[in-house]
Order: sequence, then structure tokens, then C-alpha cells
Amino acid sequence: MTAEFIGQAASLKKLQELLARVARSNSTLLITGESGTGKERVARMLHDMSPRHGHPFIPVNCGAIPEGLIESELFGHEKGSFTGALSQRPGRFELAEGGTLFLDEIGELPLSLQVKLLRVLQERTYERVGSAIQRKADIRILAATHRNLEQMVSTGQFREDLFYRISVIPVEIPPLRQRTEDIPLLVDYFVSRWVKEERGEPVRFSLPVMDIFRRYPWPGNIRELENLVERFLVLKSGEMVHPEDLPEKFSQVAPFIDEPIDDPSVLPEDFKGGILPPVSSGGDMASAFGEIISSTVEHIDLSNMLAEIERDLIRKALERFGGNKTKASEFLGMNRTTLIEKLKRLRPGIPQDFSETDG
Ligand SMILES: Nc1ncnc2c1ncn2[C@@H]1O[C@H](COP(=O)(O)OP(=O)(O)OP(=O)(O)O)[C@@H](O)[C@H]1O
Ligand SMILES: [Mg+2]
Repeated sequence: MTAEFIGQAASLKKLQELLARVARSNSTLLITGESGTGKERVARMLHDMSPRHGHPFIPVNCGAIPEGLIESELFGHEKGSFTGALSQRPGRFELAEGGTLFLDEIGELPLSLQVKLLRVLQERTYERVGSAIQRKADIRILAATHRNLEQMVSTGQFREDLFYRISVIPVEIPPLRQRTEDIPLLVDYFVSRWVKEERGEPVRFSLPVMDIFRRYPWPGNIRELENLVERFLVLKSGEMVHPEDLPEKFSQVAPFIDEPIDDPSVLPEDFKGGILPPVSSGGDMASAFGEIISSTVEHIDLSNMLAEIERDLIRKALERFGGNKTKASEFLGMNRTTLIEKLKRLRPGIPQDFSETDG
């Protein structure tokens, strides 16, 4: 079964197209991306999509095996070939025969092993440690790293020839903060998967929480989001998650909706007063609507939401024109007096200096 790969962002669609195109080939792929972006997921998906899917998918974490054992781990060994080799054992290359070998964290592979790997990739043969018998390797190699291999090449930590050999097709997975439109989809996916698997009650995430999610930088990417959603599924099953339920680190992120933004505690760290950070794009808006119709939101309060949208747009227009009401009202296509009326009504959500200034 092909693992689901959630992502509608343009960058992800391009990536999916690329994967579909290269799945049938035998070329080596180098998958790069920050921690938790889905490198292993992509590798498994590619294997499932390939003609090798009936054969094994064997992952090896090159960073997790002690240096002295990597060679025998990869290529296997004969009985007595080194102290501790009590019996013969096949290596990962042998186990992956006919299928796919996933060399995870390839940047951690010691230089001595890099030479040996290059030889296998070129000649497609290898020997078990302590054996002279050549074995043929009919496998597809996929490699991944969160490190910058090109930089490692320039400092001599990674062999240039191996780098070119493995990066025939480079695949870069963008960090989650660069595809925030996928966050509601991922949240939905993790919630419904859990509900199905655990037969539990779903949690719902309030709009201000979803808004914070879109602004948070997600250093741990999808894994971090997945773990957070799972935590709430366990702790707040059947309930709604509000901004105050989020871990401390999220308090650095200012929500635009619902919170009084003249309260300094919710402002971004680098906020120097006056104008708030970049006005959100149309993309944000579209994803906000996507989120509204998503299955984690059970009902909406339309008039409240319209008021929120109005307040948000007025505030952003004022930010854009530095608090100048004449320009903001022209931009919004309303009379200046109407804007001032609205400002009085919507005041709790508009910074004081905007409603006070006479621009
Ligand atoms: N597009 C996606 N759709 C759904 N789930 C995903 C997607 N990408 C990643 N995941 C999930 O996110 C988690 C992290 O993915 P994965 O282990 O593939 O990341 P990684 O890049 O290999 O991370 P690391 O660098 O830490 O090894 C996994 O639980 C995976 O199933
Ligand atoms: Mg990984």
C-alpha cells in the first residue's frame, strides 16, 4: 500500500510530479530537506510506486551504526571474518536484493566507506567481509541527508565523485514553514487517521490556533506537527484546542485574529510598535477558507467570522498606509467616515494608535 503523501502546495505538487516521473527508473536519488520534512516518507513512497514494490525496502541509518560495523552491516560478513563475527550474516545490500536500499543520513558515512560505496554503485557488485565471492547487486539506491553535501564536498568531508554519483536526481523537500497552506490538510489527515486507528473522538483546533500554526516556524517540520496533534488527540479528545493550550514556544507567535493586539505579550519579538509584520497574502486567505470547510471544524459562526475578516482587513489596510485613514479607506473602497465608524465598533481588535491617529 502506498503511504499517503499529503501536500497541495505548488512545491509539493511539483515534487509529486517528479517522483511519478522517476519512479520507474533505476536512477539514484538524493533526497534532501530539514529534519522531519518527510525524506524517509518520500523514499518509501518512491519504492511503492516503482516496479520493485514487491521486493524489500531496506533502510539503513548511516549515522546510527558504529564506524567499525558499517561495512559488515552493509555488505554482510562470513563467520570468523572479525572478532565477534560468530556466524555468517547477510548485509543490507543482500537483504535489499531486487528492491530498494535507502541510505539515510548518507552525510554521516565515513570516508573509508564512501570509497567502498562508490565502487558498488559503479560496478554493481560487492563482497561480504571475509569473502572473495562477488555478489551482484540488483538494487535501487535512494539516499537522504539533512546536511549540505555540496558544502561537505568543499571541506573534504564528502567525496566529490560519490556526491555526483548519488545526486543523479536531486529531490529537495521544502520546510513546512514554506508551505503553510498544507498545515490544515496535515492536521486533518493526522486527526482522521487517529480517529480511524484508535476509534477515539477527534479534537478541533480553533481558528486562532490554526492562525498561530501558520506563523510558527516549525523547526521539526511535519514530525513536530504530527506529534503535537497526537498529543492533543490524547489529552483533549472530543474538545477544542485554544491558543492557551499550546506549549510555551508558541506564545512567541502573535495570532492576528481574536487576540487584542495592543497587548504587548502577543506581539512578535521583533515588533517595534506601530506597524505589524507583513500583510498576509491572498494565499493565506485561501487556506483559511480551506480550513473552514475542513472536517476538524464542525460548525462556524458566520457573522462573527465576517466581523473578524473585516477587522483583519481594516487593520492590515491601516498598517499598510501607516495608520492613514484617508488612504486606507480609499484602498478599502469605503468612505472615510464609514471607516471611522467601523473603527469605533471594531476597536478591541485595532491597535489604539491606529484608531487614535487622524490620518
Ligand atoms: N507529506 C506527508 N504526509 C503525511 N505525513 C507525512 C508527510 N511527510 C512526512 N510525514 C510524516 O512525518 C514524519 C516525519 O517524516 P520522515 O521520517 O519521513 O522525515 P525525515 O525527513 O526522514 O526526518 P529526519 O530528518 O528526522 O529523519 C513521519 O511520521 C511521516 O510519516
Ligand atoms: Mg529520516
